[in-house]
Amino acid sequence: MKVTVIGLGYLGATHAVAMAELGHEVIGIEPDSKKLESLAAGILPFHEPGLDAALPKAISSGKLTFQSEHNENSASADLHFICVGTPQTKGSDAADTTYVVAAAKELAKWIKPTAVVAGKSTVPVGTAATLKTAMTEIAGFEVHLAWNPEFLREGTALEDSLKPDRIVVGTWSQHSVDVLREVYAPILATGTPFLELDVPTAELVKVAANAFLATKISFINAMAEVAEVSGADAVALARAIGYDERIGNKFLRTGIGFGGGCLPKDIRGFVARAEELGVGSAVDFLKDVDAVNLRRRDKVVELAKSELGSLTGKAVTMLGISFKPDSDDLRDSPALEISQRLTALGAKVTVHDPVSLTPLATRSPELYREEDLLKAATGANLVILGTEWKHYREIDPIEFGKVVSTKTIIDGRNVLDVPKWQAAGWRVIALGRNVHNG
Ligand SMILES: NC(=O)c1ccc[n+]([C@@H]2O[C@H](COP(=O)([O-])OP(=O)(O)OC[C@H]3O[C@@H](n4cnc5c(N)ncnc54)[C@H](O)[C@@H]3O)[C@@H](O)[C@H]2O)c1
Repeated sequence: MKVTVIGLGYLGATHAVAMAELGHEVIGIEPDSKKLESLAAGILPFHEPGLDAALPKAISSGKLTFQSEHNENSASADLHFICVGTPQTKGSDAADTTYVVAAAKELAKWIKPTAVVAGKSTVPVGTAATLKTAMTEIAGFEVHLAWNPEFLREGTALEDSLKPDRIVVGTWSQHSVDVLREVYAPILATGTPFLELDVPTAELVKVAANAFLATKISFINAMAEVAEVSGADAVALARAIGYDERIGNKFLRTGIGFGGGCLPKDIRGFVARAEELGVGSAVDFLKDVDAVNLRRRDKVVELAKSELGSLTGKAVTMLGISFKPDSDDLRDSPALEISQRLTALGAKVTVHDPVSLTPLATRSPELYREEDLLKAATGANLVILGTEWKHYREIDPIEFGKVVSTKTIIDGRNVLDVPKWQAAGWRVIALGRNVHNG
């Protein structure tokens, strides 16, 4: 099948490669010339395990080509995936749909009547209906628009795209269902559930899933707040409640909370959209979910202050800066915000991260960057583990302790072997636990 993928960020680049791996003829469309050049040269402009190797293979197989805008070639495609960004609107909690609207309107000038347009971006419920009207008006025929939300996770994006736990499509026409079934046929052949829904439900599935996940993380972080003042241990608590299969133990790790380009902006956008629809109170609790999450960042800043007194001139080492391991995505990263706040308070923050130092240089040049782990920690008055890269679990606390000035570490992700670190003479402050005096 001939398909286009419009918008080649984390989602679109992954989807384009995945579609090529399934054997389709894929045209990736991306207006950002730097990104486009890099992709066309087979170099992934961001870090994503597996995708870096799969991209050049897809290009050399002849299945994946790139262009900056639509032309006669892309206009002949049977299916167009819209994968552009829907960030948080500046100065508001609402999702900014201007990129989706612009991409859809531009596409409407080019598509053939039988083509199906599948939106994969995460949008406020009701967006697709507005797009359909606008596209139909421009195209001069009824456009087959469908919504096909994406559930990939950065760090395992290609694997998630090729082996999703479900495929969700919301459609207005049987033709859209048929075309989407055909494009995903190799995945469906493996038994992956294919959920045919109405369009508003398909739009809602994605934000509802993210709202649930964010709530789960903030729930255990709220328990951490209680544990910290009552002598309890939120890590042990999570393990104990997680045995109940109705609760489950995934996404129940206490720490400095969630970030990234999806969860924070999606829950805020969901609240904003529900308020527009007059049902804001139904999801008002998501404001608390957001607040609990952000309070974890405050907590680390407060802990740093109480450990170091004045932060002026103090050396702080941040281990990991991306919002999650196996990614270089710095969008709304808790570790990044904490580093920036400590810097603003006068600390000299040196960041170590296996893959994110290059994007960090542009994003937050005031932070010091060090590729060598031991050099990054040399002379540190405080170490903070901000992202749970496996490299940090494997640190030898004895060797590591030799280079720092003060053997104090805040485990912002609860991944360290606390007794082992304590035995090496470290003061370990683990969020949600009362183990720091060991
Ligand atoms: N990143 C994820 O893990 C993930 C997972 C599931 C869903 N999503 C959703 O997917 C969407 C994209 O997210 P992302 O993380 O890939 O964003 P991103 O910012 O990395 O990428 C968006 C891309 O779209 C391009 N673009 C903007 N306007 C365009 C246009 N008119 N035509 C073509 N390209 C255009 C941008 O230049 C950019 O490269 C968002 O709605 C997001 O919520 C993301």
